[in-house]
Amino acid sequence: MVAKEMKFLTGNIRQLLGSGHPSLDTVAKYYTQAEGKHVRPMLVLLMSRATSLAPKSPRYNGQQSPADIDSPISPISILSDVNPFSSTTNPISHSQTSYPTGDSDVLPSQRRLAEITELIHTASLLHDDVIDHAVSRRGSPSANLEFGNKMAVLAGDFLLSRASVALARLRDAEVTELLATVIANLVEGEFMQLKNTARDEKNPVWTEDTVSYYLQKTYLKSASLISKSCRAAALLGGTDATTVDAAYLYGKNLGLAFQLVDDMLDYTISETELGKPAGADLELGLATAPLLFAWKNNPELGSLVGRKFGVEGDVARARELVLQSDGLEQTRALAEEYANRAISSISSFPESEAKGGLVEMAFKTLKRRK
Ligand code: FPP
Ligand code: MG
Ligand code: MG
Repeated sequence: MVAKEMKFLTGNIRQLLGSGHPSLDTVAKYYTQAEGKHVRPMLVLLMSRATSLAPKSPRYNGQQSPADIDSPISPISILSDVNPFSSTTNPISHSQTSYPTGDSDVLPSQRRLAEITELIHTASLLHDDVIDHAVSRRGSPSANLEFGNKMAVLAGDFLLSRASVALARLRDAEVTELLATVIANLVEGEFMQLKNTARDEKNPVWTEDTVSYYLQKTYLKSASLISKSCRAAALLGGTDATTVDAAYLYGKNLGLAFQLVDDMLDYTISETELGKPAGADLELGLATAPLLFAWKNNPELGSLVGRKFGVEGDVARARELVLQSDGLEQTRALAEEYANRAISSISSFPESEAKGGLVEMAFKTLKRRK
């Protein structure tokens, strides 16, 4: 349904990431070599198409994307005169990014938004793999393993910077604010994850707050980007407030389902199939949904959570207790509930192929194995 747009995605992202510094250029583009799932850009494109027939906001003046969306960026920087890696030797080649010709109900600004979401996501993966000491990503050695932590972190920063410039070029203050907030949310989610529970205790006891803390963290770490970029897609299309809110709710619920499935796959799928380390969460001291549900009926897990599975044998014991419990089934059931809520959120959208695509994405989220 959005194949025409998706065909140009990776090429355009690589154009946005060009640097005249050869090492930076290599590290920044490293995770674009292996094809990712491109879930976030696909959702933005589908949402853009699905909302193109929705009622317009009274503020909408029929204006299309800003005229300068594709023009080179670097000349605005005063530093371009002294930066050997920018304008003259290697302009940020927005002018060379390409899009399908002919009729499309996806605006250039919405296509650029799709690229921006993938840039922010990839930046977060570069940083995440450093934090998680990951050795593989997308079936290849992780960037931190290949180039070292320093270059991986700096490359992540570079991606965020290029995403920010592209965002500014959309000339939409509300969309800029949304995506800037996503970046803060990613960091907030990671900080919440550094602790398994709201309070730092040696032997924490399971309460309803345990699950709400986890869900809040999950929203910040995963669902914020998906929900706010779906909202931004609807805003760029000039749709009315009801449609904008529905797009947000779809993304929020789908994002929560997506991360719940991710946390389940960490227990159930091999590293070879995932293309990244499996069983990594317990090793990292992280208690995710399957364990939290198992803990509800088995207080023994509390002391393991309290010491972040740090004593020899803890990881194996916790894994065994989770697999013996109904934690994985409960996680799946919750993911299903969120996927259904995502589908209901967009029930008022006019029927279209793209709306069907959004519904299918909700089912695919539940069925995915990587
Ligand atoms: C993957 O989770 C990581 C994220 C969804 C977000 C990571 C966010 C940061 C590191 C914050 C700072 C970064 C930026 C760019 C602001 P995971 O480790 O559970 O999944 P994995 O199995 O794919 O590694
Ligand atoms: Mg990780
Ligand atoms: Mg992580």
